[in-house]
Amino acid sequence: MQPLSSTVKNMRRSGIREIMDLAHGVPDVVHLEVGEPGFPTPKHIVEAAHQAAEEGFTKYTPNAGLLSLREQIVSKLAAVNGLSVSVDNVVVTTGAVGGLATALMAVLEPGEEVLVPDPGWPNFEMMVICAAGVSKLYPLSQDNDFVPEIEALEELVTPRSKVVIVNSPSNPTGAVFPAKQVEALVDFASRHDLYLIADEVYEQIVFGVEHVSPGRFDPDGRVIGVHSFSKTYAMTGWRVGYAIASQSVAQFIAKLQEPFFSCASSVSQKAAEAALMGPQDCVIEMRTEYESHRDLAASLLRDAGLSFVTPDGAFYTMVDVSPFNLDSYTFARELLQEAGVAVAPGRTFGPSGEGYVRVSLAPTAEEITEGLERFAAFLRALE
Ligand SMILES: Cc1ncc(COP(=O)(O)O)c(C=O)c1O
Repeated sequence: MQPLSSTVKNMRRSGIREIMDLAHGVPDVVHLEVGEPGFPTPKHIVEAAHQAAEEGFTKYTPNAGLLSLREQIVSKLAAVNGLSVSVDNVVVTTGAVGGLATALMAVLEPGEEVLVPDPGWPNFEMMVICAAGVSKLYPLSQDNDFVPEIEALEELVTPRSKVVIVNSPSNPTGAVFPAKQVEALVDFASRHDLYLIADEVYEQIVFGVEHVSPGRFDPDGRVIGVHSFSKTYAMTGWRVGYAIASQSVAQFIAKLQEPFFSCASSVSQKAAEAALMGPQDCVIEMRTEYESHRDLAASLLRDAGLSFVTPDGAFYTMVDVSPFNLDSYTFARELLQEAGVAVAPGRTFGPSGEGYVRVSLAPTAEEITEGLERFAAFLRALE
C-alpha cells in the first residue's frame, strides 16, 4: 500500500481529546475540559427547524446560503457589530470551522505564512496545514492579559506573511481585546498588507466589556470576520456559522463551499434564521449564567491560592500550574487519575500555554464547584 497523506499525519492530535479518551476509563469524572455550552438549544429554534423540515427545507441551498438567512445576518451585523455590509459580503458556512478553513484556503498560496495566536485554539494550526500554509505562532502572555502585542507580531513578519488570525473573546484565555488594540491589529495588518481573519465565535459571551469587530476599522476589505451560532445560541451540533468578507473574498469562500460542503445544512440554516429573528433573552440568560460561573470559579481558584486571569469573555480560564513543577500534560493526567477532574493541558494550545491548564466554565455550577474543590485538594496533597 502507498503511504497515507503526510499532511494529515503531521497534524498534531488535540491534547483535549487525549484527556477525554483517558477520562473514559476513570469513574466519577468531573468534566472541566469541555468547550461547548451545557444548555440545550432554545425551544423556539428547535421548533422552527422542525417546521422548516416539514415545509420542505430539506434540499441543497445556494453555496453561499439561503438569501433569507443572509439578509438576517446583514441586519444582525448592523445592529450588534456596527458593521454595514450587503448580502454579497456574507457566506453561510458549516459552523465557524467551515468558514475559517475556507477563508484560509481562499487567500493562501502554498508555503505562505499565517500568524497564529499562542496560546490559541489548536484547530487554527491544523487548518493552516490543510491549506498548505505555514503557521508562525505569536506569543500571548499573562503579563499583558493575553492581549496581542504589536511588537511581537512585527518580529514575525516576513515577505511570505499573508494572514494574521485573531481570536477575541479568546479560547483558551478568555481575553477580550480592547477597541484600541483591535484597531492597532487592523493597522498592523494594513501596514504589512495581510488579511486579518477574526474568529468572533464568542462575540456575545462577554462580561461587562464590549466585543469590538475588527471589521469596524477596515476600509480596504482585508478583514474576514468569522461568526457562529454554536456558542451564542447553544447550537454546536447544528453546524452553522458565517464569514463576512469583501465581495471578491466572499465569492472565493462561497466557491469553496461547493467541493467541501456544497452548503450548510438547509434545516440548520432555517434554525439559524429563527435564532436571529426570535427573542434574544436566551442569549442574555446564557451570558449571565456564564458570568456567574466565571465569578464562582474565580472565587474558588483564589481560595485555592492559584494564579489565573479573570476572563472577560468566552467560557474558559487559564490556571497557572507552573509552581507545581509538572508539565501541563502530566499535571492534567495526574489531576484526572488522582482527583477525577478532567482539564485541558495548556501545552495543547501552543508552547506559551505550557505551565497552564484550561478550565471550562461551560459545565454547571455544581460541576465547577465539585471539580475545583477536588482540584484544590489535589494541590494540597502535592505540597
Ligand atoms: C475559537 C473557536 N473558534 C471556532 C470554534 C468552532 O465553532 P463552530 O462550532 O461554529 O464550528 C470553536 C469551538 O470550540 C472555538 O473555540
